[in-house]
Amino acid sequence: MIPVAKIDEVPNFGKKVVSVSGREILLVNIKGAVFACENECPHQGTPLTAAIVKDGYIACPRHGYRFSLANGRCTDHPEFTLKTFPVQISGDDILIDPA
Ligand code: FES
Repeated sequence: MIPVAKIDEVPNFGKKVVSVSGREILLVNIKGAVFACENECPHQGTPLTAAIVKDGYIACPRHGYRFSLANGRCTDHPEFTLKTFPVQISGDDILIDPA
């Protein structure tokens, strides 16, 4: 687990992109629960910074595929899975496991 941001850098219902080992990772805060996923849609690579987050899902702004923030699965298009990363909060630090 490595620290990637402070909790107050990702506001409630907000997002923040961090760079870890040259890879862009998107942090999403839903009512204090922080999720981490690749900032690249597995369908055609669109960045997810402008994605809509609702009911535990993130919807790609390009074609609307919805991915679970918990496990990256796309129910409507199961051949595509968004890479997600374990998140831990320690004090005011957000830590992720980028493996
Ligand atoms: S590029 Fe994301 S749904 Fe098509």
